[in-house]
Amino acid sequence: MTRPKRIAVLPGDGIGPEIVEEGVKVMKAAGERFGYHFEIDFGWIGGSAIDRLKNPLPQETLTLCHQADAVLLGAVGGPRWDQHPPALRPEKALLGLRKELDLFANLRPTTLFPGLEDSSTLKPEVLKGVDFLVVRELTGGIYFGEKFTEDTPAGEKATDTLVYSETEVERILRRAFDIAQLRGKKVTSVDKANVLESSRLWRKVADRVAKDYPDVELTHLLVDNCAMQMIRRPADFDVVVTENMFGDILSDEAAILTGSIGLLPSASLGEGHQGLYEPVHGSAPDIAGQGVANPIATILSVALMFRYSFHDDTVAKAIEGAVTDTLASGARTMDLVSTGRLAYSTEEFGDKVVEALNKYQ
Ligand code: NAI
Ligand code: MG
Repeated sequence: MTRPKRIAVLPGDGIGPEIVEEGVKVMKAAGERFGYHFEIDFGWIGGSAIDRLKNPLPQETLTLCHQADAVLLGAVGGPRWDQHPPALRPEKALLGLRKELDLFANLRPTTLFPGLEDSSTLKPEVLKGVDFLVVRELTGGIYFGEKFTEDTPAGEKATDTLVYSETEVERILRRAFDIAQLRGKKVTSVDKANVLESSRLWRKVADRVAKDYPDVELTHLLVDNCAMQMIRRPADFDVVVTENMFGDILSDEAAILTGSIGLLPSASLGEGHQGLYEPVHGSAPDIAGQGVANPIATILSVALMFRYSFHDDTVAKAIEGAVTDTLASGARTMDLVSTGRLAYSTEEFGDKVVEALNKYQ
């Protein structure tokens, strides 16, 4: 039996097209091996969409995304568009797409790959066994609250507001608990409940939601303490769930634990099965067009697509295993080699992963 899936592929700018090509290659290879048929629609986004259609997020791209089971995105942006007015900036497309698809949960896994221990700034013994996932609320909180500035006798005054409703808090917490059930069965809920009202609501809802998941252990941590523990004992974490701004900061902190930015995938999910999958890094204009970008973050984003949109952990694990095996065989892209050693091109590394995938069934 072949399962049909429709995928919107948005390569974007800079290294986007190069890394997405390898992601699609691995996706197709996994599909052939595990019984999926992919119908792929390519769409313009970001700077390349501005150049062609004078709009960073054209309606035709949105339509493709709405019709798709999942969206695979490269990256957007570059110096060419930096002087454009805000409405014509490539980054506008990302926020627009997340909002349009109501993707409120951003997932960023942090895992340590064997052989790459020395690319981290932490000691190997601290990193041993690191495998956790930050679940960040993506469409609420202080980034979306009312903002204004006013003139006062004390000078200019600027206000940002941090607002969360019970519904918004509950849906992201449930998502974190659902995921924890499939992983290590531990949730760390991060807030600032000693100071913030919105955090007190967050903690109350977390305690209530936890009652529906008796097999998952819930721990509360204040955000400042969490920032320390993530460096001190990162292997103790399983699922870390938090509001938008805390998640923004903590997920970047988590990202540097394991080395190159070229390794890190992400998933953004809404209520349904549909999701947006993309590497954490940007369009890397400094190396674009040279065929040397690391495609791992994009390939691992494809693994997340199988896990979270198609609910197929077998294929997700096969892709992750193939990446691990490829690294274990000594293959490295330019960002991972010490100077003087020979590196694989983007395409060669993608081919190696496809080859490694053949061992899985
Ligand atoms: P960046 O992530 O594009 O690059 C930072 C550094 O990491 C560069 O030296 C780059 O060569 C390297 N790098 C990134 N991905 C790599 C990969 N796969 N393999 C090897 N090396 C890699 O961040 P930067 O330079 O701050 O931003 C460049 C452009 O990307 C900007 O226009 C920015 O707005 C945009 N951007 C887009 C994002 C997105 O589409 N989600 C996220 C972050 C930045
Ligand atoms: Mg990205």
